[in-house]
Amino acid sequence: MEKSPTSDAVASPPRSDPPRVFVTRTLPGTAPLARLRASTRLDLWEHERPPSTDDLARRSADCEGLLTMLTERVDGALLDRCPDVRVVANMAVGYDNIDVAAATERGVLVTNTPGVLTETTADLAFALLLAAARRLSEGERAVVDGSWGPWHPTWLLGQQVHGATLGIVGPGRIGRAMARRGAGFGMRVLYHGRLRAPDFAGDQASFEQLLARSDFVSVHVPLTVETERMFDASAFAQMQSHAVFVNTARGGVVDQDALRAALLGGQIAAAALDVTTPEPLPPDDPLLEAPNLLVAPHLGSATEPTRERMAELAIDGLLAALAGERPQDMVNPESWERRQ
Ligand code: DGY
Repeated sequence: MEKSPTSDAVASPPRSDPPRVFVTRTLPGTAPLARLRASTRLDLWEHERPPSTDDLARRSADCEGLLTMLTERVDGALLDRCPDVRVVANMAVGYDNIDVAAATERGVLVTNTPGVLTETTADLAFALLLAAARRLSEGERAVVDGSWGPWHPTWLLGQQVHGATLGIVGPGRIGRAMARRGAGFGMRVLYHGRLRAPDFAGDQASFEQLLARSDFVSVHVPLTVETERMFDASAFAQMQSHAVFVNTARGGVVDQDALRAALLGGQIAAAALDVTTPEPLPPDDPLLEAPNLLVAPHLGSATEPTRERMAELAIDGLLAALAGERPQDMVNPESWERRQ
């Protein structure tokens, strides 16, 4: 007997439930979260502050995917507490908050969001360079605290930007975008990186040469075992006394005690940081005693369109991996290959 189309035997195969995902912060815009809600069982951490390690583990325990920020530490201990997790999509280009080796060992794919924040971050880096060079935060403090006196020919003299030498440490996407901005201001550009960058619009230099020759040093390296505290007392001692140091990469690439000493001791003229250790930097941190220091609260990618694109890209990676499709931006592709 032919089975009726409605009988159990020919019913369409049971549809598996949409995957569970935990997202560790409200995302910018409405579209990204709506997209996630449509295709996953979404659990959203809606607080301003990041989840604690314990909250993160509890909420991720039965999830298959996580969408994390750079504030979340994802390591082996966490992943062991959420054995179903197959993908961690980090909404950042940097992924030093993730123990990638531990993820790979457990077959967990890690994705990130390169490309979409390049120009925005370089804009901020160049803004910091200009502000530190021309002592804008010192000037603004003087306006606000009433110490702004009559115009004086020797007051708050800064560093000349046009015609100066800009040293880029880390000639990747953001380093190149910074170099283009420098060239636009008539700067000579040097770069130092692990590899030669043949199409970089500037001259290659050793780290030591770059420190000695640059009027401005701007850092664009990821935080790794090799780059951790690469800007230490010896690095600052090799820089020129009028040099300005800019860091929009990660706080961990700088030895902050050494930077404080270099700023207070006049070894360098000024510094501007978008990243520190820790973040937020406590208001009584000794580093903030240096008047020639400007600190921004990790604003590199902080514009609405850029943050929305980062969220979309993170979701692309998350959903692709959960659907068994190859995501575009994989940090540990070996984890993906192994699964195929
Ligand atoms: C990143 O994506 O790594 C940035 O630091 C976030 O602005």
